[in-house]
Amino acid sequence: MYFIGIDLGTSACKFLLMDEDGVIANVVSESYDVEYPRPGWSQQNPADWWEAVRRGIPALLVGHDASQVAGIGCGGQMHGLVALDADDKVIRPAILWNDGRTVEQVRYLNEEVGTAKLLEWTGNIAYAGFTAPKILWMRDEEPDNYARIAHVMLPKDYLNHLLTGAYATDVSDASGMLLLDVATRSWSAPMLELCGLTAEQLPHVFESYEKIGTLLPEVASELGLPEGVVVCAGAGDNAAAAVGTGCVGAGSMNVSLGTSGTVFIPTAGFSPVGDRIHSFCHADGNWHLMGCILSAASCNAWWMGDVLGTDDFAGEQAGIDAADASLDLPYFLPYLMGERTPHNDTLARGAFVGMSMSTTRADFTRAVLEGVAFAIRDSVEIARSLGVDVAASTVCGGGAKSPLWLQMLVNVLGIELRLPTTEQGPGYGGALLAAVAAGVYPDVAAACDAVISVRATVAPDPAVVAAYEARYQAWRQMYPALKPCFAQIGA
Ligand code: XUL
Repeated sequence: MYFIGIDLGTSACKFLLMDEDGVIANVVSESYDVEYPRPGWSQQNPADWWEAVRRGIPALLVGHDASQVAGIGCGGQMHGLVALDADDKVIRPAILWNDGRTVEQVRYLNEEVGTAKLLEWTGNIAYAGFTAPKILWMRDEEPDNYARIAHVMLPKDYLNHLLTGAYATDVSDASGMLLLDVATRSWSAPMLELCGLTAEQLPHVFESYEKIGTLLPEVASELGLPEGVVVCAGAGDNAAAAVGTGCVGAGSMNVSLGTSGTVFIPTAGFSPVGDRIHSFCHADGNWHLMGCILSAASCNAWWMGDVLGTDDFAGEQAGIDAADASLDLPYFLPYLMGERTPHNDTLARGAFVGMSMSTTRADFTRAVLEGVAFAIRDSVEIARSLGVDVAASTVCGGGAKSPLWLQMLVNVLGIELRLPTTEQGPGYGGALLAAVAAGVYPDVAAACDAVISVRATVAPDPAVVAAYEARYQAWRQMYPALKPCFAQIGA
């Protein structure tokens, strides 16, 4: 029996074929573009995601017995606003998780409605990337489009809708809309009213591992799959990655070094701390905390591709000594798309600080990787300040393939990092959620126990940890110092 995991990412959609014992039989990737129509805005055409599915799934199945596929589960980029009209047509390009156009709507929500009410209704405060501010932005800036809205959904829910016909979402992804009461795992009536939405315009809420339907017959035939394939609700990509790395149950943690960077910490119950860090539903029936930086591996991709004009990532990193944390090396603020946690500042931007005539190309590359690690550390520090005991973490995402970056991260965080079976977190998690929905495993924790193991660990070196601590404390002072400049140039 096979399960297909879909990782609906920002730069590409990845497809993973897993057998019922958790062995990965194939992985394929289909990339697409992001539109940046203005600085800090980012949007994507949902039709591109569906095209990726139409190409990716048949390619994934080449050389494998498609009749054995029993389930599909998707881990999708979170928070994106997909709005459909009464004929199920996409009204406008999806506004993505790292889009910063909703400055005014976030101000209204946090300051006029007030964070106390938002926390009571949803368990969280407003950030520019969340879905509710985008709905208000459509109401304010595109009233004709807003008036046509018949259905609102998240990116992976749109794929699931085309696969099955269902209007469905899952609790983990819905948590990031600022429309869900995370404590009760159901839509928040006051938030719906505030956004001018009815429950009929929102998808039905499922647990991530629940079946939402089966493939539509014409879709099954087009993709080369048997009829009756179960589609589960799936999860936000971070909750799916947590499942795919075995990050379930209190005491575990996962860091994802993808386009975004996230720190994911499962909790035993709902934690009312959503004013400092996201407090969301997990895909295993529990809850979790999450810190999110908007530009992680994307900083490295920007530096390498757009600035240096090379794709030789390993070559550029080859001569860099991860143990050299001298204070006078240059620093980098990774806020290319603004920042989510901890600063909640849409106008923040990237910066290099501290160059001299002896600064080299490699020093800049080093600073970029380190700046992302420091920003991840900021989210870990919030968790620590809340009393969370973080002793070790798994890591996944494209950035986890760089030994240099891992060496830096381990010494910046000062905790052991564990590399799980695969770095394909969301896709593997999606496939495991589908296996639970199909009844192969009784629950998510059992699925993770059965198939996930640690293939390597990276341990911190106390002397290097101390050197990075000094650099981190210097770096921490740079954003507050530059914040007024970012506000001025972004105004
Ligand atoms: C999480 C977030 C990002 C996206 C990336 O809150 O916005 O990690 O999910 O796809």
